[in-house]
Amino acid sequence: MAQLSDAVDRLRAGKGSIISICGDAGTGKSRLVEEFKATLDLKEIQWREGHAYAYSQNIPYAPVTDMLRRALRIEEGDSPSKIREKVERRVELLVGRREDLMPYIGSLLASPIPNSRGQARFLEATLA
Ligand SMILES: Nc1ncnc2c1ncn2[C@@H]1O[C@H](COP(=O)(O)OP(=O)(O)O)[C@@H](O)[C@H]1O
Ligand SMILES: [Mg+2]
Repeated sequence: MAQLSDAVDRLRAGKGSIISICGDAGTGKSRLVEEFKATLDLKEIQWREGHAYAYSQNIPYAPVTDMLRRALRIEEGDSPSKIREKVERRVELLVGRREDLMPYIGSLLASPIPNSRGQARFLEATLA
């Protein structure tokens, strides 16, 4: 708990960390994380989770895409256009308007989002 707490202090100072909690099943890994999470002010610290599963071992970036899906509130069965809409709306809320990120996030989510740069150039050209 103290080590996790120190990591959050460093985070407040702009320094990220990676902490690996390892142990046999039933030794309290989940409980430790749960108890630690309960000590945080989640209005101050943005808590994001991505889960890895035995069956997702062969899926590239599975924990990252799981975290993205949770953060972007993408649900099983969302259509490609629904996914695109959620990605655009939620990414803007999280990091501001970043059209350039869309194709990468789309490819991570296996849901193509075309690069809008062509259109942006067209607008610039039209305005100029
Ligand atoms: N420090 C602790 N004191 C009391 N109970 C604990 C403690 N750590 C874990 N437990 C309990 O032991 C069980 C297994 O813990 P869990 O966190 O699910 O293990 P793991 O995630 O490592 O498999 C849970 O019921 C949990 O509440
Ligand atoms: Mg567990």
